[in-house]
Amino acid sequence: MSAREHGASALDFQCLNMPRPEGLSALQARLVDRIKRAALLRLHRRPRGERLLLRMYLAGEDATERTLLEELLPQSPPWLERQVEQHLADEQRHVALFAEALRELGDDGSVRLEPDWLSRRKILRWQRLAHRYAACFEHGLLVPAYATGLCAEQMAERVLNRHCAVIGSEHRWYPLLSRVLGDEKGHVRLCENTLRRIVAPHERGHLAALLKDIRAVDASFGVTGALAMYVAGWVLGASR
Ligand SMILES: [Fe+2]
Ligand SMILES: [Fe+2]
Repeated sequence: MSAREHGASALDFQCLNMPRPEGLSALQARLVDRIKRAALLRLHRRPRGERLLLRMYLAGEDATERTLLEELLPQSPPWLERQVEQHLADEQRHVALFAEALRELGDDGSVRLEPDWLSRRKILRWQRLAHRYAACFEHGLLVPAYATGLCAEQMAERVLNRHCAVIGSEHRWYPLLSRVLGDEKGHVRLCENTLRRIVAPHERGHLAALLKDIRAVDASFGVTGALAMYVAGWVLGASR
């Protein structure tokens, strides 16, 4: 690919980057961020609050592991299999790391949290979108699967970035969270590169529309999710 072609294709895939929120959405994003920062500080005040945070991370990693194993791996063409297996190994390591951190806080981690009600609703709506858009792509469901994966990894990056910033580099959780954050950043690049490979030039408009819809679902749960987390922080972080 020539430098000129590369420049043109980079521009055509602008939709892969998270759009900068504007107007009312920017206000909503700032509000969600502030509520979640306050909730994190409160949850860190008590061991039971910290256990809840770890269980939430564990549930997220568990769900990602299952998606890779049950949905992505079976429909991946042979040239993608090694990459999916490597991705799967990373997510399994994250599960082990969060389970270990939970054990250190006196929770044996044997009771795995299913994704909460809000996350399940979000996943269901993403699955519906995937089936609606699959026919637009030569690679079928694989494209919506990677588009959803990209948004989920970008979300994980945002969540872990915020958490690392809130606790600071001296905190005992910082090495764990920054290590996982490094991997999630790698996964964002991996999903972006895969989408560049599997989406044909004439399908890019459909990909942009699909990503817009996936992100709209995510944003529609933003304030509710932040408030749920704040209430949990208020209850579990209370000093008595
Ligand atoms: Fe992960
Ligand atoms: Fe990941």
